[in-house]
Amino acid sequence: MLERLIRVTQEHHDLFKYSIPLIASENVTSYAVRRFYLSDFGHRYAEGWVGRRFYQGCRFMDELEALAIELTKKLFGCDHANVQPISGVTANMATFFALTKPKDLIISLSVPDGGHISHDRFSAAGVRGLKVEHYVFDSEVMNIDVDATRRKLEGMEEKPKVFVLGASLFLFPHPVKEIVELAKEYDAKVVYDGSHVLGLIAGKEFQDPIKEGADVVTASTHKTFPGPQRAIIMCKRDLAKKIDHGVFPGVVSNHHVHSLAGYVMACLEMLEFGRDYAKQIVKNAKALAEELYNLGYDVLCPDLGFTKSHQIAIDVSKFGGGDYVAKKLEECGIILNKNLLPWDDVRNAENPSGIRIGVQEVTRVGMKENEMGRIAEFIDMALKEKKSPKVIREEVKEFKSEFLTVKYTFEECPAYDFPKVI
Ligand SMILES: Cc1ncc(COP(=O)(O)O)c(C=O)c1O
Repeated sequence: MLERLIRVTQEHHDLFKYSIPLIASENVTSYAVRRFYLSDFGHRYAEGWVGRRFYQGCRFMDELEALAIELTKKLFGCDHANVQPISGVTANMATFFALTKPKDLIISLSVPDGGHISHDRFSAAGVRGLKVEHYVFDSEVMNIDVDATRRKLEGMEEKPKVFVLGASLFLFPHPVKEIVELAKEYDAKVVYDGSHVLGLIAGKEFQDPIKEGADVVTASTHKTFPGPQRAIIMCKRDLAKKIDHGVFPGVVSNHHVHSLAGYVMACLEMLEFGRDYAKQIVKNAKALAEELYNLGYDVLCPDLGFTKSHQIAIDVSKFGGGDYVAKKLEECGIILNKNLLPWDDVRNAENPSGIRIGVQEVTRVGMKENEMGRIAEFIDMALKEKKSPKVIREEVKEFKSEFLTVKYTFEECPAYDFPKVI
């Protein structure tokens, strides 16, 4: 059994070492982050709030959490930060817990328009018993149609309590200021889910939802932000108490303090290297989109420059659909995901018309615009030239061998090795 455990872990590491990882929600952490992740903090409980714990032994965990809050405020310029949510969904649940009552109405993006499942009634919002209506979405520009949404709301009897912004398929900044104005008409709050773009916000390469007036910003810390898997919530001062109680005792008991230590290290990396890293991510996303578009792929929004984030979206209906294409590319050593697009039925999630690509991880291991050209060629070899997956996989492996080191950290380190700690 131990051999199996070692083998499966080693092979998993090798899979990513020899592939091109393009899942938009993933990243690799540095050894600096991993070092703190493996600390004794991971064996302990820190229920409660800084200075007000329910167990003894929390002295240094208090100091750590205070440091995490301080750094979060410094990076993002927020009034208040709660650093305890153990994931993005947990952060959203805590926020719904804090700002709504069961049967309240919230407005969010539908999943085909890019919304995350947790913004909808069949997931976290539903667990809180919320009713959900969707924004009117303009798929030409892949963004919210604020005027049409205003008209839709005027025709409805029920009044919204929360407007959720932010998305999983997130190409362009959302109209935060306009939605804040609209929300005022209903005395509603605006929650911006920045899970995907947190690293770009920290690096000043995307909109700043706090400056633009969002009441609450939730975000996971491991997509464009290169930390361990957990989340943060930032909010205006007057909501601090509600948010803190929404998190604990709302939806979190112990909050996985080892990953908080890793998050603090990732904040230090982002303060030092975040701007360069975020800038290169957006350049890479644009470059890859352009290469693929020039090769004849239906990359969304060519007239808008394809993207302003780490993501690009492609309609691959003519190549057999998202499911077929994602599986075919996996055979070739290119790992990405199928994705619903606005014209897809949500019930068709198993075989949508799109794929989504994120370039944050390949950027973290040092790829620049030139390498985006190579990635586009590999995709083309697989989908148009129909070259043997085995041959492509070998070429991908050779190409990737130059990009196995985590950059944008204090001491560059292997990205995909399975380290021996004992
Ligand atoms: C917009 C958005 N919010 C929340 C989440 C959930 O985050 P987590 O996986 O940390 O729970 C995701 C996941 O990809 C997401 O895309």
